[in-house]
Amino acid sequence: MKNEITKLIDQIDPNRMPKHIAIIMDGNGRWAKNYKLPRIQGHRKGVDSLRKIVKISGDIDLKYLTVYGFSTENWTRSKMEVNFLLKLILESLVKEIDDLNKNNVLIRFLGTEKKLEVSYYKKAYETCKKSWKNTGLQFNIAMNYGGRQEIVEAFLAISKDIKDSKISEKDIDEKLISNYLYTKMIPDPDLIIRTSGEQRLSNFLIWQSAYAEFWFTDTLWPDFAEIEFMQAILDFQNRDRRFGARK
Ligand code: IPE
Ligand code: IPE
Ligand code: MG
Repeated sequence: MKNEITKLIDQIDPNRMPKHIAIIMDGNGRWAKNYKLPRIQGHRKGVDSLRKIVKISGDIDLKYLTVYGFSTENWTRSKMEVNFLLKLILESLVKEIDDLNKNNVLIRFLGTEKKLEVSYYKKAYETCKKSWKNTGLQFNIAMNYGGRQEIVEAFLAISKDIKDSKISEKDIDEKLISNYLYTKMIPDPDLIIRTSGEQRLSNFLIWQSAYAEFWFTDTLWPDFAEIEFMQAILDFQNRDRRFGARK
């Protein structure tokens, strides 16, 4: 397997690397169901997949990796599953922070503070902050994230800054709006991967994905690993990105 991964890595064209890959990690529940396990076991197993993907992302010199950890719509799941997911995300971050630091990974949470307890948000922030001097892979965890909520918060902040005369209405353009999103300073995703056979965005990076390439697989997230990740990148490198222009 190691050999096969290395072979695929060797095929990657460093000049055509996507700068930013975003992943909708889907299918944990179905994975658990297939093994007659409770859904939460699928989420647990999903963390192992994520660890592998973050590690290899650093190895291949990817600049930005963003993963969808918890959506603003995921609050509608059972209280038990919601609590488990919130806890799992924070605990995994705390547990992995030293290794991530060793690997020079910079971590950020993207999402709203709404509905989260202050202590939760603070702990996440303080843990991420330990990595902010790092210069390798920037790993973003979309946590309590919703693309529409992100745009609502941008509208609110923009209108406040207009009222406070920090900006004027004339300044509003695409660039300014991008700078009011959680992803300010992060380039738009070049490649969006979704596992588990679903082919939709589910409110993920809806502004930022305007010209992203999409790659879908039926593999459930807990079974997703390096080989498929490399295949997605190789496939991306054969795409013709035109951005509306023609040669
Ligand atoms: C993805 O797995 C993880 C989160 C949404 C947090 P799901 O929990 O959505 O798994 P399925 O889609 O029910 O299989
Ligand atoms: C999207 O997956 C959210 C995350 C992966 C965190 P969902 O499983 O919640 O999305 P839907 O409900 O299938 O659209
Ligand atoms: Mg799902």
